[in-house]
Amino acid sequence: MRARLVLALGFAAGIAAAAGGWLYAGREPAQRSAAELMDILMWNREPVGGPFTLIDHDSMPRSDADFRGRLMLIYFGFTYCSDVCPTDLQSIAGAMDKLGPAAESVQPLFITVDPEKDRPEQLKDYVRLFHPRLVGLTGEPRQIRKLTSAYKVYYAQTQPSKPTDRGIDHTGYMYLMGRDGRYLGFFPPGTSADRMVEIIQPQLAALSAR
Ligand code: NI
Repeated sequence: MRARLVLALGFAAGIAAAAGGWLYAGREPAQRSAAELMDILMWNREPVGGPFTLIDHDSMPRSDADFRGRLMLIYFGFTYCSDVCPTDLQSIAGAMDKLGPAAESVQPLFITVDPEKDRPEQLKDYVRLFHPRLVGLTGEPRQIRKLTSAYKVYYAQTQPSKPTDRGIDHTGYMYLMGRDGRYLGFFPPGTSADRMVEIIQPQLAALSAR
C-alpha cells in the first residue's frame, strides 16, 4: 500500500471514528446482539452525505430522491482502479445475493471520483461485471467534488513516473444510508459480504416492522 494511501486512510478513519457509526468494531460479529448492532448504527450520528443529482450508466439523470424507500449502499471509486474497488464491489455484490429477495430494498450505487474518464459507457461496462442491480453514477467534476466532500471521501491523483500509470488514491468506505436518505453508518474497506448482510438485515427488519 502506498504511503499516501495509508495517510489518506488514516485521515478518513479519524473523521469516521469522530463521526461515530463505526460498523466494524474490534469484537467478533457473532458476539453482538441485533440490539447492539442497532445502537452502533444509530449512535452519535453526524451529518454525512447529502442530496445529489448525477447521471447514471444509461445517461439518465438520477437523484438521491429516486431511491427513497430503499437503503442505499454507496461506494466511491473509479473504473480503472486495480486496488480496492474491485474487491469491495464484489463484497457488495455478494451481500446483495445473500440478502435474497430482501435485496430489492437495497440500492447499491457506485459513484466515480474520476468523472472525466468515467463516462456513462465506461460505467455501464464496469458495473455489469459485478451485479445487475449496481447503478453507476457520474457527473460534472464540481458535482462530484461537492458530493465527495459531503461524504468525507478523500481522493487525489497519484504522481506516477509514467503518465500512463495515472491513478487515484481514494478512501474505500461503503456508506449505508437509510430509507429516508439519511446516514446510518459505513463499512470500511475489506468488509465481507457476510458482515454487510449481518448489519443490513436488522435494518430491513426494522423497516418492515414499522
Ligand atoms: Ni479503488
